[in-house]
Amino acid sequence: MNKQAKPIRIPDLVDRKKRGQKIAMLTAYDATMARLLDRAGIDTILVGDSLGMVVLGYETTLPVTLDAMVHHTRAVSNGARRALVIADMPFLSYQVSIPEAVRNAGRLIQEGGDAVKLEGGRAVADVVSRLVEIGIPVLGHVGLTPQSVHQLGGFRRVGKSSDEAAHVIEETRILQQAGAFAVVLESIPDEVAGVITEELAIPTIGIGAGPHCDGQVLVSYDAFGLYEEFTPPFVKRYADLGNTIVKAASEYISDVQNGRFPAAGRARTAAARERGQ
Ligand code: KIV
Repeated sequence: MNKQAKPIRIPDLVDRKKRGQKIAMLTAYDATMARLLDRAGIDTILVGDSLGMVVLGYETTLPVTLDAMVHHTRAVSNGARRALVIADMPFLSYQVSIPEAVRNAGRLIQEGGDAVKLEGGRAVADVVSRLVEIGIPVLGHVGLTPQSVHQLGGFRRVGKSSDEAAHVIEETRILQQAGAFAVVLESIPDEVAGVITEELAIPTIGIGAGPHCDGQVLVSYDAFGLYEEFTPPFVKRYADLGNTIVKAASEYISDVQNGRFPAAGRARTAAARERGQ
């Protein structure tokens, strides 16, 4: 457990960029996963609204509510000791008005988030400025912005044409100007991510945006093989937990059905003894 290690703070991330040290981010949605990622030494945990798809079973992130994000942010914050916890602002929680955005971001911070993330550039610049002004750090997110999936015409790569690339680059400039402490670049060409990373003073965190970014983020359920509906082509599978769980569950089912578990007079485990069971 990394309990003794110094917690990661926003200035540490900006410092990492200056020193050329990459930032590692993964998503988590509950305390157990947060505890495990923290133990592994992750720098920052994103409570992504991807939870709508990988945990709640929706086809997009659009149905995710602020209450759901609050609930999961609390859980992740309970599990993380060292990692910086960033809470995603869900669809419609920051687009309606600045006062509403302030109230909703504030709620995520009160529930244990260290910062919030929201999608967009120019369209959300005033919201970003206001949040930063009142002390809420903001992570931007451009390129493939899943909350705009209908406008984009699907979960597709963004920035392949020179017009689209120029637009994405401009959006990141606006976010930096508005005070974002870093920006997620999702599904944009490697060279566009390289240009942005070179130009900005704030760190870029890539997902499907190639190796030039200052850090990388993956949806943990993709990286660990837990979400089998769809895996984006850029994902590297670091574990096959989905199949591991199916195998373990099958073994348990067979043990129960065949009377092998529980074994008569089976010795209590050390953990059970500790729990007084
Ligand atoms: O919701 C999420 O998990 C995200 C990442 C994919 C960056 O926004």
